Amino acid sequence: MYGKEGVAVVDKSYINVGILGWGTVGTGVSKILMNQHALIAKNSGTDLNLKKIVKRTLPATREGVELPADCLTSNPAEVVDNPDIDIVVELIGGVTEAHSLIRRAIQNGKHVVTANKALLAEHGGELFQLASEHQVSLNFEASTAGGIPIIKTLQESFAGNQIHSLYGIVNGTCNYILTEMHEHSVNFSDVLKAAQDMGYAEADPTLDVEGIDAAQKLILLIALAYRSSISLPQLHVEGITNITAQEIQYARELGYVIKLLAIAKLTDGNCVEARVHPTLVPERSLLANVGGAFNAVCVIGDAVGPTLFYGQGAGEMPTASAVVADIIDAAKSVQQGVSAPISQAWLAGGQAEVGFASIDDIETRYYIRFVVADRPGVLAKIGTILGNWQISIASVIQKDPHGMDTVSLVMLTHTAREKNMRAALSQIYALEEVKGEAQLIRIEEEVAF
Ligand code: HSE
Repeated sequence: MYGKEGVAVVDKSYINVGILGWGTVGTGVSKILMNQHALIAKNSGTDLNLKKIVKRTLPATREGVELPADCLTSNPAEVVDNPDIDIVVELIGGVTEAHSLIRRAIQNGKHVVTANKALLAEHGGELFQLASEHQVSLNFEASTAGGIPIIKTLQESFAGNQIHSLYGIVNGTCNYILTEMHEHSVNFSDVLKAAQDMGYAEADPTLDVEGIDAAQKLILLIALAYRSSISLPQLHVEGITNITAQEIQYARELGYVIKLLAIAKLTDGNCVEARVHPTLVPERSLLANVGGAFNAVCVIGDAVGPTLFYGQGAGEMPTASAVVADIIDAAKSVQQGVSAPISQAWLAGGQAEVGFASIDDIETRYYIRFVVADRPGVLAKIGTILGNWQISIASVIQKDPHGMDTVSLVMLTHTAREKNMRAALSQIYALEEVKGEAQLIRIEEEVAF
């Protein structure tokens, strides 16, 4: 039996699901599939049967989950090569093994669901090409912003919009740390340590605090919003490790909150700015008030205008919620023969529709904090250099003697070109009165709704 475009339609009363990986998210998925079996059947018209779960070390149990006999296995082949399994859910994480298992599952004609942003950010093009050749779906809602349905929103709900810009708080670890720093005036390293002790942050937090996790998610959002792929090395990525309690305090005094934002912005023509960095956002904005480990994505479309999606970006049940929604979509693909959304064409090697701006060419406002000798004429010298590079100062604060004779000199600028800012800074650093490098944080005002 065949549906649209010759895609095979399976006429069966139930659909078998196999899960690779029974960690936190896998446990959540098994709970929903088992505990909400009847509800899912009513909502979707699909009877989903959890057939196999691969767990590397056996035996294993999970509180609140009673699996059918023979469900658990330590052998991935019992899922990816199993002719009875229709949908493979990859939740093992990492790149190498997940990559080869997903390839095998697709080649065996199975629809695939994954939460693996690192894998898709690196190998998305090839995997979507393969899925397209085998006429199966490859769904990835849980890869970005956990329980928030931002992937489906960009693919489907905003399909009639030119996306003007997108601003995401997509890393819960960073947002938790920055929120604690803002609310309790504590240092980055102290909050990170406390977060690790409580299990909120990874033992090795590098991918989170250096902005890599957010960048991988931004790659996926950009692909859907602009039908073009960008690689990690093409993105400008800064993490939050240099943000101090002082920066948080000055930002507050100036009416801003510091957030790690993943930003994509269509500028003139067909050029997109794509960057991840700490950002000053106005304290009255909704994004500024997204606290703790929560995620939020603001999308501004030409027809819809500004929108904001808020929720839990990680964790067992929120992430499982997104995975199960993808499984249900995949089940519809099995039953109705619906192929992958057309908007995934970019991922399958489609023509890029936009180019990407170099960080040198972006234009934005800046927060700058210099540590300078507290002497007459220093402000004038810095102001002259900035002026020579067409950088206009919007406001200045000077206080907090650092020691015998140094102070923090904090400035907000009007919109300036990054290339000019870097050139000006290198001249300013050559001044004998300026001590070390400045703290430079970009400002985004557009999120202010
Ligand atoms: N480590 C991520 C975060 C969650 O802190 O948001 C998984 O993407």
